[in-house]
Amino acid sequence: MDNKVAIITGAGSGIGRTTALRYCEAGGKAALFGRTKSKLETLAAELGEEHCLVVSGHHETPGDAEKVVEAVKERWGRLDLLFNNAGTYQPAAIADTSIESWNEALASNLTGPFMMTRAALPLLRDNGGGVIVNNSSTLGLRPVPGSGAYCAAKAGLVMLSKSCAIEEAGNGVRVIAICPGVVDTPIHLGREGGAGASHSEFLESAGGMHPLGRVGTTDEIASLVLFLASDDSSWTTGSVITVDGGISLS
Ligand SMILES: NC(=O)c1ccc[n+]([C@@H]2O[C@H](COP(=O)([O-])OP(=O)(O)OC[C@H]3O[C@@H](n4cnc5c(N)ncnc54)[C@H](OP(=O)(O)O)[C@@H]3O)[C@@H](O)[C@H]2O)c1
Repeated sequence: MDNKVAIITGAGSGIGRTTALRYCEAGGKAALFGRTKSKLETLAAELGEEHCLVVSGHHETPGDAEKVVEAVKERWGRLDLLFNNAGTYQPAAIADTSIESWNEALASNLTGPFMMTRAALPLLRDNGGGVIVNNSSTLGLRPVPGSGAYCAAKAGLVMLSKSCAIEEAGNGVRVIAICPGVVDTPIHLGREGGAGASHSEFLESAGGMHPLGRVGTTDEIASLVLFLASDDSSWTTGSVITVDGGISLS
């Protein structure tokens, strides 16, 4: 990643945090974006201020995406990777989904990545190209009961990725959707209690549903993102890549 510059959304936690660490360890610079400034600042202190900058905000809020792109332009004058990773999970059947929860699913998982993409494209194009990786989910490819709004939003993100890939290929911008299975991150903490299971019990039972017999780690997702951000994947665009311990097979 030598001298490459990334914007990583949702960098304060889980997959985004690990990817930011790995990207900077590999020689890149990263703009850390997310809702909670204190989490981003803790990570920035770990990475060293010379490798990163912090911008807090909500990616779906008009102006916030532009704010982080402007900060990157001013500091490094280029952009190589937009990792649209931020998102939230809404556990509810469609019949029980409030309009607020539906709107939140779309805002955090689909509108946000759209706003970030639109804001980042001019700088990526100025560079002669770059990469956008959108963090969808296996639930964007096939439904499970009790996640309707999230599934719909993540499926939308897959099509946003393909549409952008075909529109931007001529500008050298590659766009890829990744679809993780269950990964051990704080996103699942909210599931405690609901089904009467602890976080670790949830992860153990979810792991059993994956043919490889366990849930994934944030490092396993970060490894794929770094490959897609590198020139080793230079002929890959418009792809939808599962990284899921084989759960899509069942
Ligand atoms: N973990 C899994 O099993 C799994 C599986 C498939 C796909 N995914 C996807 O992977 C992505 C990362 O999730 P994770 O598992 O790493 O969860 P996480 O630890 O909860 O991290 C999500 C991050 O997104 C940020 N965020 C949420 N809504 C935002 C918004 N509107 N604007 C800006 N930032 C926002 C959060 O900010 P705060 O730090 O302020 O909370 C947090 O840093 C999500 O898109 C998720 O849907 C996860």
